[in-house]
Formats: sequence, structure tokens, C-alpha cells
Amino acid sequence: MIPFKSPLFLKDQISATELPCHDNLLIIDRAVAKNMSPEFLRAFPFVYLVDAGENLKSLEQFPQNLSEILQVWKTNISRDHTIIALGGGSVGDFAGFVASVLKRGVKLIHIPSTWLAAIDSAHGGKTALNVQGHKNQIGTFYPAEKIYIFKDLLFQQPSERALDGLGEMVKMALMDTPPFISDLGDAVEESSENILWRYLEKAIAGKYKIVLQDPYETEGLRKLLNLGHTMGHALEVHYALPHGQAVTQGLFFALAWSRERAGFAEDDYEKILKVFAQLNLKSQIQENSFRPLSKETLKEFLLKDKKIDGSSLIDFIFLRAPGQAVRQKVSAEEIVAEAARQGWCQ
Ligand SMILES: NC(=O)c1ccc[n+]([C@@H]2O[C@H](COP(=O)([O-])OP(=O)(O)OC[C@H]3O[C@@H](n4cnc5c(N)ncnc54)[C@H](O)[C@@H]3O)[C@@H](O)[C@H]2O)c1
Repeated sequence: MIPFKSPLFLKDQISATELPCHDNLLIIDRAVAKNMSPEFLRAFPFVYLVDAGENLKSLEQFPQNLSEILQVWKTNISRDHTIIALGGGSVGDFAGFVASVLKRGVKLIHIPSTWLAAIDSAHGGKTALNVQGHKNQIGTFYPAEKIYIFKDLLFQQPSERALDGLGEMVKMALMDTPPFISDLGDAVEESSENILWRYLEKAIAGKYKIVLQDPYETEGLRKLLNLGHTMGHALEVHYALPHGQAVTQGLFFALAWSRERAGFAEDDYEKILKVFAQLNLKSQIQENSFRPLSKETLKEFLLKDKKIDGSSLIDFIFLRAPGQAVRQKVSAEEIVAEAARQGWCQ
């Protein structure tokens, strides 16, 4: 088994010279490929272009994708071959899944091209496909052999995409020991992209600290990384919000509930809301720009979400204090009642 902590290479400029191009397959987001130099693309003998997004992760679409991959990758594929996944989280989840099952596992390299993927999804080895529109219903644990993060590739993104990355960055900072979270707030003079680049390695290190203690999510510790994700997933699916922005909204929900139920101190809560504001992360409820879900829709979603256990209780992640995430089992009804109290559903 490949170790869960993949060697990480942070570079300023993307280049194919260090990558094992020969005989291997590049799976690349079509939109990203348009911005790559012809020399970069020419370095790869086999290239499979994909359209990023949840459809790429569809199980129903998977046989077609796999048969196209086998047509494109015209070599005698063995387990020594490598898939190089270049794209955001959807490309990483899809290509990682392919790598984990093809020939019972070929090698995998991640080159994340979104902030969200660079901070979060490329690390920790989770791959995933969606089943009948339900996110991440099947998947494997399959860490990459190596992860390359190129600054120029990440800075290519439209600047509003930094909001996605900030959601996951703030989540990692909340889980880390202070002063990570207040440092993020103090960095307001810079652009969001510069903040993300400056704190990227710290956020990744925080993720590995948790993943390495519970790589297969059997001890419960890794579930702490789902802070903000219960409500976040519901909003991501129902309003087609980008993952990181949905997580930000989920964090607002989780923090407000933590104050009520997990003893999260009022002054810490106020300080953290200030950091969110400094980073330009806004609660859609406070902005009055939110269309509440119906209680029935939210409950149905929660009951289908993957975090449910046999007793139909849901692992909800609360924050007791900065750096102290805790897991508690709650019922879907309790989540719905709290969401209604806060205004997320009616
Ligand atoms: N495996 C994990 O641990 C994990 C963790 C979190 C999220 N995820 C998954 O990640 C996915 C979301 O990832 P994402 O937000 O990166 O989305 P994505 O891969 O869907 O990409 C979002 C958009 O950004 C574009 N894009 C990508 N790179 C770009 C670049 N450099 N310049 C310009 N545009 C670029 C894409 O074409 C797409 O339109 C979801 O499917 C989520 O479930 C997985």
C-alpha cells in the first residue's frame, strides 16, 4: 500500500520535465488544457480530456469513460504505469478511482488545478463516484504516489474561485491550534490568492495530521474533517453551489449550532465571524440572499447522505473551541430543527 502522506512538490511554474510522461496517461480537464502550452501537452503520449464536474463522477457514465480511456491509452498497461490527474477535485476523484481499479491499481500522480483540490481533495487518498445523482456514494482509498502543486496553474483561475479555497482553508484553520485562524484574518492586506498560497502547506499539513491517525476513517478522527460539510453538502447539491462555497455556508451553520450545543464561547464565535468578514466570506442568511430549503427536502437529503450510520443518527462535527472539533451523533430531526431556527430551512 502506498503511504497516505504523498510526497509534495510545490513549484512556481508548471513543466512536464519532472513528470513521468513516457507511456503514461494524462487525464486533464479540457478547460485547463486550453490554457496549457502546446509543449506541455505534447510531452504526454496519451491524453484523455474530460469535462470537469459532477457528471464526470457519475457511475452511470463510468463504463463509457473507461472504455474511452482504454482506447486512448494504447499501451500494454501494467501496474507500473501511471495516471497523472490534472484538474480540480472532480477530475482527481474520477482519475483516482480509475487508477485504483484499472489493472487492480496503477500508479497515480495528482496535479491539482483548483484551490479546493490543492488544499483538500488531492490529499488523503479518497476517490469517489456519484450514484444516481447522490454524491460520493462509492469510492476507494487510493493515495497518490506524488502530488505536484504549481503556483502558476492555481493563479490561472478566475479570482472568484479563491472563495472556494478559502472555505476549506478556514475549515482547516478552525481545526488547527490557534493562532492559525486569526493569522488568516490578519492577512487581509493581501489578495485572497496570496493568502491561499502563503498558508497552503500549513493547511495541507493539518489535513495529514488527522488523516495519518485515521487513514481509513475507522477511528472517527478523520470524520472531524467534515466540519461544515453536513449542511454544506445539502446546499452544494440543492443549489449547485461550488463545494468550497457550500462548505463556508455549512461552517456558519455548524459554528452557530456549536455555540448553542457544544459550549463554543461567544467571544470566540464573534472573533471567528470577524475573520470570515475580513476574508470576505459571507453568510447567505445574513446577506438575505438565501432561499431556504423545505424541511422535508433537508431531512430526505440528510437521511441519504453518506455520514449516516445504522441507527439513523448522523455524525455531526461541532467546534468546542478553536482547534477542538468534536463529533456527536444527532438525529436528522435535530439538524432540521436547528436549520429552521437559524433560517436555513422552513
Ligand atoms: N477526494 C476528496 O477528498 C474530496 C474533498 C473535497 C472535495 N472533493 C470533490 O471535489 C469536487 C469539487 O472540486 P473543484 O471545486 O476543484 O471542482 P471541479 O473539478 O469541478 O472544477 C471546478 C471548475 O473549475 C475549472 N477549473 C479547474 N482548474 C482550473 C484552472 N486552473 N483555471 C481555470 N478553471 C479551472 C473546471 O473546469 C471547473 O469548471 C467535488 O466533486 C467534491 O466532491 C473531493
